[in-house]
Amino acid sequence: MSDIQTDVLVIGTGPAGSAAAALLSSYGVENMAINRYRWLANTPRAHITNQRTMEVLRDLGRDVEDEAYLFATHQDLMGENVFCESLAGEEIGRMTAWGNSPQSKAEHLLSSPTMMNDMPQTLMEPLLFKTACKRGTQARMSTEYLSHEQDEDGVTTTCRDRLSGKDLTIRSKYLIGADGGKSLVAEHAGLPFDGKMAVGGSMNIHFRADLTKYVAHRPSVLYWVMQPGADVGGIGMGLVRMVRPWNEWLIVWGYDINQDAPDVDAEMATNVARQLVGDPDLEIELLSANTWTVNNYYATRTSEGRVFCMGDAIHRHPPSNGLGSNTSIQDAFNLAWKLAMVLNGTAGATLLDSYDAERAPVAKQIVTRANKSIGETKPIFDALGMTEGVKPEEMQKSLEARGDATPEAEAQRAALRAAIAHKKYEFDAHGVEMNQRYRSGAILAEDQQEPPFEKDAELHYQPTTWPGARLPHAWVYTHETGEPLSTLDLCGHGRFTILTAIGGERWADAARAVGDRLGIEIAAHVIGPRRPHVDHTGNWAALREVSDSGCLLVRPDHHVAWRRHAMTDDPEGDLTAAMKTILAL
Ligand code: FDA
Repeated sequence: MSDIQTDVLVIGTGPAGSAAAALLSSYGVENMAINRYRWLANTPRAHITNQRTMEVLRDLGRDVEDEAYLFATHQDLMGENVFCESLAGEEIGRMTAWGNSPQSKAEHLLSSPTMMNDMPQTLMEPLLFKTACKRGTQARMSTEYLSHEQDEDGVTTTCRDRLSGKDLTIRSKYLIGADGGKSLVAEHAGLPFDGKMAVGGSMNIHFRADLTKYVAHRPSVLYWVMQPGADVGGIGMGLVRMVRPWNEWLIVWGYDINQDAPDVDAEMATNVARQLVGDPDLEIELLSANTWTVNNYYATRTSEGRVFCMGDAIHRHPPSNGLGSNTSIQDAFNLAWKLAMVLNGTAGATLLDSYDAERAPVAKQIVTRANKSIGETKPIFDALGMTEGVKPEEMQKSLEARGDATPEAEAQRAALRAAIAHKKYEFDAHGVEMNQRYRSGAILAEDQQEPPFEKDAELHYQPTTWPGARLPHAWVYTHETGEPLSTLDLCGHGRFTILTAIGGERWADAARAVGDRLGIEIAAHVIGPRRPHVDHTGNWAALREVSDSGCLLVRPDHHVAWRRHAMTDDPEGDLTAAMKTILAL
């Protein structure tokens, strides 16, 4: 007999585990989350928070979303991505990043009701964890996962209570391994991986210092310092990252992975900070220092039986593109509603197979992108003549030649501009963040052709209601008060939703009837004049890709599961068949 029972045991309270627990509790699933430490993230690792993640927070509740904006640094202060010789030294180039260029800003505004922002992990984790605990998650800190065994009915997990030193067992119906980049759960579950761990070494130096005079006129989260000799290790150059504007910072500095990780003491940290800031007298208040490795490693299968892994446990990659915590939270959004429906008996267990089918390709995609982005820094170095093997004095000469009126210097300036502009694939890759289209048993695309991407799919989000894609956002207005609501706001919250328009009322009737029969709530919205929600601008009609009498069936995680272009002869029969397939009934 196990010491403790719960429906879902979550190992880890990082972004993945806390988000999973918060969502499960919001959906009414009994769950427990454990963390081997006694508190949450103590360093501000992840920070770039993309629109898709903010949509998950918004789905958790407007209170959760609002609190995130309250803590986060606003998107307006994120964008001037600077390349310089040092913060005090000469600026080499700049790209406007993270949805701040006028073109990209428009795309962001059109794509989502939410805004990208900068929210350090030290603030994101407590928000998600607090939401989980407030809504019912049993949290157990100082509790370390040791091993698990699964059988037909559930999983028995052995943990160590680090306060008493005693082992305990927890029996759950499902186990979530959200235990980070050294996941024991993934290892014990035997998940297969591709790629390589530890392809580079980096150190973080977290400190306080008022750097306003160097940065406030070019507000950014990232200041890239390119100095001869600074190109060691994974990231490729020294990075000064804003944690809070403009007095809390994190320096990321590479070390040679073939050597032992350095011991970063206060003296070394101060020296590195002085060098990158370019102020030999700079005093810093060192908050922490640690080393980490750059990985290129992803699970090709994300679950085994009743054990599901998410977050860094299944995708391990460098911070380029700022995808780690974002993808971890989005993994949780994909799995939580499925577990909820299987546990309450309204879906068949094979619905859970779709987690692997849908998220394993995302793991591969983001690990590959993040590592590619590191490689795409090289042309900047090349343009500056800072190529491996060249002596620092030669590099310095080449840097200085940039201002010369010579054909070589003109070519160098052009090459530098092109190399920096190409970094939009790292710093403004809206498509990477928003374009995921799922293919699985929980999506019924039937014979409908996938619309090809008209622009670069990594840079630009392309809305479509093709089954598998995320529901496009458009503002619609409540008939009563005129309040704007996103189409995404009409969906989610753990429920399936039917969206239709005038002439599609029978889909709404079908949603009620099918919901009653299957024992689930299927929300239904008829959007149109004199209906509860009105598409005054016509923006929704332009995006929905079905006629007024057609319908979209949207999953709790905002992805379109099925659609019909127009009213059919038997909407109830058609919806019943679709729901049964999607829910594996
Ligand atoms: P995470 O490692 O955060 O959490 C794992 C949890 O499991 C912890 O609670 C841990 O204590 C617990 N645990 C581990 N083993 C256990 C055991 N045996 N028993 C019990 N508990 C156990 N991402 C992003 O989206 N945007 C960004 O801008 C950045 N930037 C960034 C910068 C830097 C410098 C770094 C190093 C990383 C980033 N990231 C990022 C990546 C991001 O930090 C990372 O992807 C997420 O923290 C992953 O979240 P997880 O919850 O999966 O693991």
